[in-house]
Parts: sequence; structure tokens; C-alpha cells
Amino acid sequence: MLDRAPRRSRFITFEGGEGVGKSTQVKRLIAALGRREIPAIRTREPGGTPNAEAVRAFILQGRSEQWGPGAEAVLFAAARLDHVNHLIAPNLKSGRWVISDRFSDSTRAYQGLTGGVDVKLIDALEVLALNGNKPDLTIVLDMDPEIAFRRVLERETEASLAQTGDRFEKEDLDWHKRLREAFLAIARNNADRCVVIPANQAEDALEQEIWDVLLRRFAELTERSA
Ligand code: TYD
Repeated sequence: MLDRAPRRSRFITFEGGEGVGKSTQVKRLIAALGRREIPAIRTREPGGTPNAEAVRAFILQGRSEQWGPGAEAVLFAAARLDHVNHLIAPNLKSGRWVISDRFSDSTRAYQGLTGGVDVKLIDALEVLALNGNKPDLTIVLDMDPEIAFRRVLERETEASLAQTGDRFEKEDLDWHKRLREAFLAIARNNADRCVVIPANQAEDALEQEIWDVLLRRFAELTERSA
């Protein structure tokens, strides 16, 4: 067996609107990495650490709504700073890949481009919260919001929307269209980091397309087969 060069850990984020299937693909990617014996952890935003999960509960229950999008951007960033310092950075340092279901592009898309928060504040919060931990790759899952919207509604009837009371998903279709454009604009402006993938396809096919992106990006993966 050949000695392998020391491997570096990678930080990958998944972004996109509601109902595009991020969580499923994050889980599938963790499994695919596991099959290649690459240690990886799955996390999410808002959340990931106890402090950040507390902020998540506060925001998603709608308790921050009256504060407005500027203050919400600050709250998301505070949660992110804790998440980065206590979960993301330590895991990357110890050689684990970190896969996050949403990260800072969500603040830029939701609170910034769609919510109207000044880009200068978004930029400043990003510098603070990332603390130097920029993702190596961001997969933007893109889908026509009319299709995504239907998927969310179907999912929530089953999962009982009343329990979560997630207010972000109650916005109208027009808002979802603007959100989609926001993510596409972020991807265009960060073409070195972001890859847009059409998400309206079978889960297996989407998983394969995501894996192909990783193979192209991270040479160390081509040495390993499942
Ligand atoms: P969640 O139930 O995790 O939604 P999803 O499955 O779509 O990721 O709720 C997270 C919500 O919070 C989602 O509507 C996006 C929103 N959000 C922001 O507005 N700003 C942020 O910075 C982040 C991370 C999430």
C-alpha cells in the first residue's frame, strides 16, 4: 500500500432556498465520504452548538421578527461565531471534513439581498463570524420556487408545520423568487467557491452530480474509490 500524502480537511456548505433538498444531500454526502473512510461531520445553521441552537429556537419561533432583519442578521452572526469557534474550526483542525446545511451565504441572501440589510453590515458580520474559516466549496442547490414551494407544503403537512411554527417558510412565492435570484447572484460573485446545481432531479442523480463536483475540486478524492 502506498503512503498517502497528509490529507487536509475540507469545509463544504450547502445553500439554497426552501425545499430544495439540502438536508438529504448533506446526509448522502456524509455517507459517501464515510464509504471512502474520510471522517466528516454534518452540521447545520442556524445551530450546530448548544448556544447557536438556542439562538435558532429564538429566531425560528418568530420571537426576533419584531426586531427587524438587521438585528436578525446580528443574531445569525452571533450564532455562527459560536458554531465556527466551537465546532467547525476545531473539527477542521483535527482532520475532519465539515459539511454544513446552510452557512453565511444564507444571511447574505435572506437578511441582505432579500431582507434589505445593508451589504456593508453583512460584510462586517461575515468577517466577524467566519473568523477566517471560509468554506472551500459551496454547493448552491437551485430550483424553481414554484416546485420547491410545493415540496415544502407537502413535507409540512406530513411533519405538522404547527409544531415548528417556522415563519421563514410562510413567505409568498414572489419572495421565494427573489431569494432564488439572491443565491444565484452570490454564486456568480463567488464563482471560485460556489457551484450551482439544478436540484429538480432524482436524489441519486443529484448526489452523483454533487460528488462529481467534489472529485473535480478535491484531487485527494480521486485516489479513493468507494
Ligand atoms: P430550517 O428549518 O433549517 O430551514 P431549511 O431546511 O430551509 O434550511 O430553518 C432555517 C431558516 O432560517 C431558513 O428559512 C433560512 C433561515 N436563515 C436565515 O434567514 N439566515 C441565516 O443566516 C440562516 C443560516 C438561516
